[in-house]
Amino acid sequence: MMGRLPFMAGNWKMNKTTGEAIDLVRELKAAISGVKGVEVAVAPPFTALYAVCKELEGSFIRLAAQNLYWEEKGAFTGEVSPLMLKEVGCHYVIIGHSERRQFFGETDETVNRRIKAALAQGLKVIFCIGETLKEKEEGKTFSVIERQVEDGLKNLGDKEMENIVIAYEPVWAIGTGKTATPGQAEEVHRFIRGKIEKLYSREVSEEIRIQYGGSVTPENIKGLMEQANIDGALVGGASLKAESFSKIVRFKEL
Ligand code: PGA
Repeated sequence: MMGRLPFMAGNWKMNKTTGEAIDLVRELKAAISGVKGVEVAVAPPFTALYAVCKELEGSFIRLAAQNLYWEEKGAFTGEVSPLMLKEVGCHYVIIGHSERRQFFGETDETVNRRIKAALAQGLKVIFCIGETLKEKEEGKTFSVIERQVEDGLKNLGDKEMENIVIAYEPVWAIGTGKTATPGQAEEVHRFIRGKIEKLYSREVSEEIRIQYGGSVTPENIKGLMEQANIDGALVGGASLKAESFSKIVRFKEL
């Protein structure tokens, strides 16, 4: 088996105007040029995708979007289709982020529809799951993760799983400065991989990459990446500065 390629993705959320996005990506390109053995993606807001795509020409950094709608086109004011993202140069799309689930009514069912629509258009998916603080305190972490995995990936076959990355992001760790300890994260990552093995096969479970997300910084990335089942990170706050995100990308040198 080939080892899983570490994957660091920056989720910029609703930050950066187009001008700011170009500046950030220029700095980032310089800060990580020559880095090998790691895949890198940035997910700017929709408005900056085109400009960032142009700026990334010739770079190994991949472009990602933060969401999409599952319909191809039509009367869906305010939404963006998979084809639009593909055409603007996106390689990945983040789906089911906890902020979408919390603030915009995303459910496991709509996440599943979005994933299918993205894959059908040839986009790769960063599929986000994670329990809230309340669910964690009630001892429901594993049952919540299990449901999110089962329902989010419903009716997807082995072949489609090749184009999916899972991001485990405990909601209580997002933007709070409270990271799961490497041990806590690893326990859930191992559970997720086990679940994928049950739903698919050993091979699929060994190949799928599982990122950790939630207050990842240059200070804690190394400990997380030392865990057997953590294959990268989905980074919010620390991806907004080239200095911190480039250190995360260069975790092997830390
Ligand atoms: P954070 O966000 O790194 O700011 O906690 C992570 C995420 O929501 O993807």
